[in-house]
Parts: sequence; C-alpha cells; structure tokens
Amino acid sequence: MSCYSERLSDNRRQARALPTAAIDPHRSDRVALSKSIVHIQGLVPFSKGGNRLCFVHPDSADTCLKVDQANRTPAMKRQRKGILGRLRSLQHYDENLQEYRALRTLHRHYPESLTRHLPRTFGLVETDQGPAHSMELIRDGDGLISETLERYLWANGMDELLAQALAEFKADWLQSSPPSRDLLPHNLLLQKQGDKSTVVLVDGYGRHGGWRLPYVLRRRRVLDKLRKFDERINIVLQRKHAGENPKERIRHLQRDQ
Ligand SMILES: Nc1ncnc2c1ncn2[C@@H]1O[C@H](COP(=O)(O)OP(=O)(O)OP(=O)(O)O)[C@@H](O)[C@H]1O
Ligand SMILES: [Mg+2]
Repeated sequence: MSCYSERLSDNRRQARALPTAAIDPHRSDRVALSKSIVHIQGLVPFSKGGNRLCFVHPDSADTCLKVDQANRTPAMKRQRKGILGRLRSLQHYDENLQEYRALRTLHRHYPESLTRHLPRTFGLVETDQGPAHSMELIRDGDGLISETLERYLWANGMDELLAQALAEFKADWLQSSPPSRDLLPHNLLLQKQGDKSTVVLVDGYGRHGGWRLPYVLRRRRVLDKLRKFDERINIVLQRKHAGENPKERIRHLQRDQ
C-alpha cells in the first residue's frame, strides 16, 4: 500500500468516526450547523469555482468543504446589486445555504435513480475561513478526486465511457425532471469506478422550492436544459478540435489530495 493510500485509508477510518449529529442532512439548517469549528486555514483547496474554494475536510477524506471566496460572500454579492436586489435577504445570496437546502430536498423527495447523480449533503458547518457546505467528496475508484466533464473532454474527447455515462445521466434526469440551473460541463463530474462510470452534479441545483410546476412543464424545461447541455459539450469539443486553449479553470483541480 502506498504512502498516499495509507493516508487515505487512515482518513477514511476517521471519517467513519465523525459524529452523525453534525452531518444528518434531514435535520433543520440550525441543527445541521455543527458547533465545533473546523480548522482549514493553511490548507490548499483542491479546487475552486467562480464563487467558492473547495477543501478536503481535514478529518475526512470523503468530505468536501465549500467556502465562499473572500470577495464572493453573500453580503458582497448583495452590495453589488441594484436597489431591488439589495432588498432581498442575505440568505437569498448565500450559495452554500441554497445549495444545502436544494440538495436536501432532492435527496428527500426523489428516487435513487436521480440521487445517484448527486453528492450527499452533510449540512452547514463553521470553519475558521467562514461558513461551509459540507458534502460528499466525489472520488474515482482509485481514490483520485473525480474530474469535471469539461476537463475530461479536453483530455479524452467523447469516448465510449463518457458517452455511456452521459446517456444514463440524461435518461435518469429526464425521468425525474428535477429543478436545476443550467447544466454546465464544469459543474458535473465523471466518477470512474472500474469499468463503470457515473455523471454527478456538484453545483447548480437551483433554489429549494423553485419550479413548482406540473410534471409536463417541468419535463419540457428539463428537455430544454439537456439540449443546451449537449450544445455546451459540443462547444468544448469544437474548441478542442480547433486547437484552442482550454479555460483556465480546468487547471484548478488537484486530484491527488
Ligand atoms: N463534491 C465534490 N466532489 C469533488 N469535486 C468537487 C465537489 N464539489 C466541487 N468540486 C470541484 O470543485 C470545483 C468548484 O466547485 P463549485 O462548482 O461548487 O464552485 P462554485 O464556485 O460554486 O462554482 P461556479 O463558478 O460554477 O459558481 C468543481 O468544478 C469541481 O471540480
Ligand atoms: Mg461550479
């Protein structure tokens, strides 16, 4: 066993020992907010998006902590809005809270055929770098952190493995037709486990309680989102085949943490 996998299995043992009270997704936001502060200062995020930094939980290799970037806090986002936008509550601009609530609702009310494409949520926790959403960290079978579809497409193009996983994802997603924001290739991961792979959405769930529409209308909206998703995938492939450079964000991911 390599030094890396020893560390990983040590962390996994610790992960199992985490108190469940702090990580029960079915409790209210208040209860879900763990009382103890998690220290992540000095840790290097394994990835980041336009809004948040993503850390491996120091006590759990299978837990991801998402923290707002310093210039993307709810208060700063609200401040940049116009008069009407500034009348909204801070909660409205709290990406972690919105994400936690949306993910909790999806896990409670949708079948396994849908939730297998979602990380589990462990609730909101306090860190020494601000509030965080604690969620399942998606890793491949070899222990490496799973890649985004965007990054995978740049490296491998549309191969059989991805095509198969995408077909399953789209069929499952359409069957349940959940609310979501636009499906962006940098917000979905390809989780590879042996010869099986699964597409997992890690960001962009929409708002909790959004889309109170009859199934037929929801389905129509999802069909539209899936069509645009295909277009975005094709744009990445076209740019790759035209010899253009990938977006900077694909370099942010450090898979071996
Ligand atoms: N649960 C997870 N498991 C593995 N990797 C993850 C997970 N969540 C996020 N990531 C990685 O971190 C990156 C940034 O996370 P995320 O998309 O949540 O940040 P964001 O700032 O909200 O993004 P955006 O710019 O789309 O608003 C993702 O593209 C992905 O590579
Ligand atoms: Mg994102």
